[in-house]
Amino acid sequence: MFCTCTSMGLLGINAYKVAVEVDLSESFPGFDIVGLPDVAVKESRDRVRTAIINSGFDFPIGKIVVNLAPSDIKKAGSLYDLPILIGILRADGQIDCDFRDCAFIGELSLEGTIKPVTGILPMVLEAKKLGIEKIFVPQGNAPEGSIVEGIEVYAVGSVGEVVSHLRGEKILEPLKAMKFSENPVNFYEADFEDVKGQYEAKRALEIAAAGFHNILLIGPPGAGKSMLAKRLPSILPEMTFEESIETTKIHSICGTLPEGAGLVKKRPFRAPHHTVSPAGLTGGGTIPRPGEISLAHNGVLFLDELPEYNRTAMEVLRQPLEDGTVTISRAAGRLTYPCSIMLVAAMNPCPCGYYGHPTRKCTCSEGSVQRYLSKVSGPLLDRIDLHVEVMPVEFSDLNNKAKSEPSSAIRERVNAARKIQNERYKGTGISCNAMLTPAFLHQFCVLTEGAQNMLKTAFERMGLSARAYDRILKVARTIADLDGSEDIDVQHIAEALQYRSLDRKYWGN
Ligand SMILES: Nc1ncnc2c1ncn2[C@@H]1O[C@H](COP(=O)(O)OP(=O)(O)OP(=O)(O)O)[C@@H](O)[C@H]1O
Ligand SMILES: [Mg+2]
Ligand SMILES: [Zn+2]
Repeated sequence: MFCTCTSMGLLGINAYKVAVEVDLSESFPGFDIVGLPDVAVKESRDRVRTAIINSGFDFPIGKIVVNLAPSDIKKAGSLYDLPILIGILRADGQIDCDFRDCAFIGELSLEGTIKPVTGILPMVLEAKKLGIEKIFVPQGNAPEGSIVEGIEVYAVGSVGEVVSHLRGEKILEPLKAMKFSENPVNFYEADFEDVKGQYEAKRALEIAAAGFHNILLIGPPGAGKSMLAKRLPSILPEMTFEESIETTKIHSICGTLPEGAGLVKKRPFRAPHHTVSPAGLTGGGTIPRPGEISLAHNGVLFLDELPEYNRTAMEVLRQPLEDGTVTISRAAGRLTYPCSIMLVAAMNPCPCGYYGHPTRKCTCSEGSVQRYLSKVSGPLLDRIDLHVEVMPVEFSDLNNKAKSEPSSAIRERVNAARKIQNERYKGTGISCNAMLTPAFLHQFCVLTEGAQNMLKTAFERMGLSARAYDRILKVARTIADLDGSEDIDVQHIAEALQYRSLDRKYWGN
C-alpha cells in the first residue's frame, strides 16, 4: 500500500510543504527514510516504531520506505515523526480516512506522546496559505498554533488522540483563534520610574526611541548604564500585529518563545555576552539559524562593555544594521533573516572606568585609555547617532523617595514623534529619521536661519566631519519632531550637538 501525508518544513523564516510518502510492501522487513533527512529525521525510525507499538497499534511486517519530498532540500528535526507514523498506519489500513486536506507536525516520545517542536508559527501560516484546512500540532505548541485564523489547528498530546480523531471515535475541537489586542499593556518589568535622576541620559534614550537611533552610553561602573538600556523597550511604540508575527516567527524557529506565549508582544531585549562569536550575533550553523541580532528583531540589541567584543563580531553587525536584514551563506544555501533593531552599546571610558569621573581618579595611562577606546570598531561607531555620557546619579536624586516619570508617559511622546515621521516619510521607502539618506536630509531637514548659523559655527569651531554633520541633522530632526516643530530651530541643533561632543572627546572625530 502507498500513502501520502502532508507535513511542513522550514527554510529560514519561511515554511514549505513536505509530502511524506509511505510505501509498504511485502518484501524483506526494513524501514528506510529517504529525501535528504538529517540525523534527527533518521532517528525517527526508532521513535515511530516504538511509539506505534506502545500506543497499542501494530507495527506492520514488511518493507517500509518513506520519502520526504521535495527531496532536494535537507530536512531537519524530529517534526516528521507524527506524519510518518500516520502515513504508516494509513498504508497498513489501521486508519481508513481521507486526510488530503490535513497536515501533521510533531515529535514522538517512545511512549507515544507528542512533543513540541520549533517553527510552528511559520509552518501554520504557510499551511493556511497553501489552502490546507486542518493542521495537527503538538499540544505544547498550542499557544503559537492559536495565532493563525482561517485554518483549523488541532493541538494533540498523544498518538492515540490523533488516531481516534481520524477514525471518528473521539472528535477533537480545533483551537480558538486568539485575538490580537493592540491596546497598550504595560508588561515590561523594567520601567523608567525606578531610575532616579539621570535626566540627560533618559532624554537621550527618549530621542533614540523617537527617531530609531542607535545609542552609545559611556560612563563609570555602577552609573546605571545597564539599568537604563534595559528600559529602552518599555518606551518604544507598541508592536504592530505584523511586527509581532515576524518576531514570533524568529523565536518560534529558535525555540526561544517564552512558555505559554502565543504572539511575542513585548519588544525583545537581547544582551549577548561579549564572548559571543560573529556567527552567534548574525546567525549560522549548517542549516543557518538566526543569531542574536535577529532574535532582537523589532527590539533592542544591547552590547554591554563594547570594547570587549571581538572586532570581527562588531564589524559583522555593520551591514545588518544598515539593511535591517542579515544574509547567511552556507553550503546548505543562503538564508535571509530580518533584524530591524535598535542598538544600544555601553562602555566605560577607560580600563579602570573612572576617566572623567567627577570625584574618583582614573589610574590609567594615556596610552592605555587610547588603546581601550580604539578597540571599538570605527565603522560600528559610525552607525551610532547618539553618544551620551552617563555619570553616577547624584545623592540628592537617589535619596528622593518620589518615583520618576513612568515609561508609559515617555512612550506617549515617542509615539507622537513616530507618527509625525510616518506621515512625513509616506511613500519614500524610509520610516524614521535614523534612516535619512543624504539626499533626504536636504529635503526633510529645513533649518531656520538661526539654526543654520549655529550649525555653521559649530562645524567650523569643532572641526566636525561630514559624517558628524549628517548625524547631527538627523538627531536634530528627531528633537524637533518631539517638539512638534516643522522646522529645525536653534535649540534643536544645540541639543543635537551635545550628543556629538563625546565623539570628539574620546575619539577625536
Ligand atoms: N539612577 C539610578 N536610580 C536608581 N538606581 C540606580 C541608578 N543608577 C544606578 N542605580 C543602581 O545601581 C546599580 C548598578 O547600575 P548598573 O549595573 O546599571 O551600572 P552600569 O553603569 O551598567 O555599571 P557597569 O559599568 O559596572 O556595568 C543598578 O542596578 C541600580 O540598583
Ligand atoms: Mg553594566
Ligand atoms: Zn581609567
